[in-house]
Amino acid sequence: MYNSKIIGLGYYVPDNVVTNDDLSKVMDTNDAWIQERTGIKERRHVVKGDGDTTTTMGVKAAKIAIERAGIDKDDIDFIVFATLSPDYYFPGPGVLVQRDLGIKTVGALDVRNQCSGFVYGISVADQYIKTGMYKNVLVIGSELHSHGLDMTTRGRGVSVIFGDGAGAAVLSREEDTTKGILSTHLHSEGQHAEELSLIAPGMGKRWVNDIIADNDPNDESYFPYMNGQFVFKNAVVRFSEVIMEGLEANKLAPTAIDMLVPHQANLRISQFIQKKFQLSDDQVFNNIMNYGNTTAASIPIALTEAWEQGKIKKGDLVVLAAFGSGFTWGSAIIRW
Ligand code: UT7
Repeated sequence: MYNSKIIGLGYYVPDNVVTNDDLSKVMDTNDAWIQERTGIKERRHVVKGDGDTTTTMGVKAAKIAIERAGIDKDDIDFIVFATLSPDYYFPGPGVLVQRDLGIKTVGALDVRNQCSGFVYGISVADQYIKTGMYKNVLVIGSELHSHGLDMTTRGRGVSVIFGDGAGAAVLSREEDTTKGILSTHLHSEGQHAEELSLIAPGMGKRWVNDIIADNDPNDESYFPYMNGQFVFKNAVVRFSEVIMEGLEANKLAPTAIDMLVPHQANLRISQFIQKKFQLSDDQVFNNIMNYGNTTAASIPIALTEAWEQGKIKKGDLVVLAAFGSGFTWGSAIIRW
């Protein structure tokens, strides 16, 4: 058995900065409300016609990660792509990355675990590498939310939160099993599936043919729905549980954490976790202020920035944790 380690990281966000004041011009919201409730100051939105899609942003992030990994694209043995905003309903973006990067015909897997997508993705990659089946696995989290949001006052509870962007990691074989990804921990609770969801177009409650036939401008099932307070309450509990589960599995105490990179759901959630585990500002990385919540992309973007800023060093204990739609949640305990 091997371990896997992250040998390359990259991220890409569109240039277009959308401030809270910009949003207040198109809906009834304001900078004070958004900052107070979420910590978000601005986010990035793809500009129509610029050519950015979930896949192209993922490819841009992946190219940086592959270059930093010091490997050739043809050394990639497998692709894992996590998103809730795929370019197409099907096929998923994994194969589009294989095409756009010009990689040989390796397997490409799409992960549908929303905010937990990147943690689920690296968990999958880790298992393949552990068993020796693959040596280098590319894991991407990418989202283009902006053009699927209800940018009117009706949608303000959701649309002010989410932003666009992508992050990627190359995971590679590590012979020393005290290094790299020590463990991953995944959970789901489908009982609350609809509390944070986008129902249409699906083949469940809102069939595509019905949506077309109804042609109803008041149909909200096209837009993401979130029961914000309910999600918040579950998030703080599950984040705490799954971080503790990961630490205990490795016989570690919270004091052992050098850097916690939580999914950037809401700055208030990160601050709650920080307080609960008595971590200093240097032990938790947040960038939601600048990018909003980029769901599957948020951890790889944050991890890349933390690494670029020298906040993650060799030997550090790095903890990733996520919670989101599904509900799904997970953690990864990494010895850098
Ligand atoms: O990433 C996946 C996981 N996601 C999360 O973990 C998100 C968890 N939830 C949250 O972060 C918070 O619940 C939100 C930030 C989404 C909302 O904050 P909240 O403190 O729970 O606000 P609320 O939804 O209870 O709304 C409070 C008030 C309402 O007005 P009334 O009914 O009190 O008059 C809303 O209509 O704020 C109003 N409101 C807004 N006002 C200005 C809702 N959205 C906005 C807005 N601007 N954008």
